[in-house]
Amino acid sequence: MTPKVVRQIAELREEIAAYRRAHAASAQVGLVPTMGYLHEGHASLIRRSAEENGLTVLSIFVNPIQFGPNEDFDRYPRDEERDLKVAAEAGANLVFLPSVTEMYPDKPRTTVSVSGVTERLCGASRPGHFDGVATVVSKLFHIVQPDRAYFGLKDAQQVSVIARMTEDLNFPVDIVPCPIVREQDGLALSSRNVYLNPEERRQALILSQTLSQVAGWIEDGMSEAELTVRIRGRIRSQPLADIEYVEVATYPELGHPPADRPLRESREPLLVALAVRFGKTRLIDNVLLFPSEVK
Ligand code: PAJ
Repeated sequence: MTPKVVRQIAELREEIAAYRRAHAASAQVGLVPTMGYLHEGHASLIRRSAEENGLTVLSIFVNPIQFGPNEDFDRYPRDEERDLKVAAEAGANLVFLPSVTEMYPDKPRTTVSVSGVTERLCGASRPGHFDGVATVVSKLFHIVQPDRAYFGLKDAQQVSVIARMTEDLNFPVDIVPCPIVREQDGLALSSRNVYLNPEERRQALILSQTLSQVAGWIEDGMSEAELTVRIRGRIRSQPLADIEYVEVATYPELGHPPADRPLRESREPLLVALAVRFGKTRLIDNVLLFPSEVK
């Protein structure tokens, strides 16, 4: 069924309240926050929410406050018509498509900032980014008041940040992390993949190819330093790859694993994450390993 498109906060609240009144105790609302230009990764979150909730709200909002001054806010890809088709097929019931002035009628004086888990990885290379994410997601949580919210592990640090914010601020929302969806050749799906020219697209395969070997290298006994050197070397084999970071972090705290021991002795899950530019396009990818998988 075609989802209803809502552009105003007040109308969205009325729609959700009407659903809750009609379904009383059995009412379950799932929220899937996105910036649109939907692909199969987004669709997997919508489908999961539709399975687990009576009402699925998809939000599509390119959030200006999470983009840095030299980032791609103005050219971020947008295609409302196609997004609505994907939303319908995946089972969304309401699509919230606010304007920037609807979400930010004024420059916000209140923002949400999560410390610790934002210090490394994308937090270090995109200052202010996670404040923008945490602020818009907390607004969406207040607007929609979902029972569950769905986030992809493609952005594993974002999942850590949102989970921590939800706990610290007592949002009554279950955060549901969902697996990374990839192209058949391994490239992690991303709205930004459309920026890649064919040669960049070909060379970008090095990211998933390298990450798929990480579990074996850890099993062989590598330390954090050895592993990052190995990964960097593999990625540099592609001349167009410009590495922003390659890091190993404990998950979900995103601290450093003990430096003096092989990673396979970690008691905490390990996130191996990277950000690499191909031409003007910044790609991120990661692999999350649990102790039972690295021994
Ligand atoms: P966006 O990049 O549109 O992603 C929306 C959601 O889809 C995120 O939870 C992201 O992790 C998930 N996603 C993207 N690619 C995926 C893939 N290949 N496999 C699985 N899930 C994938 O992330 C954002 O938007 C924004 O920061 C947002 C949370 C909406 C706040 O503005």
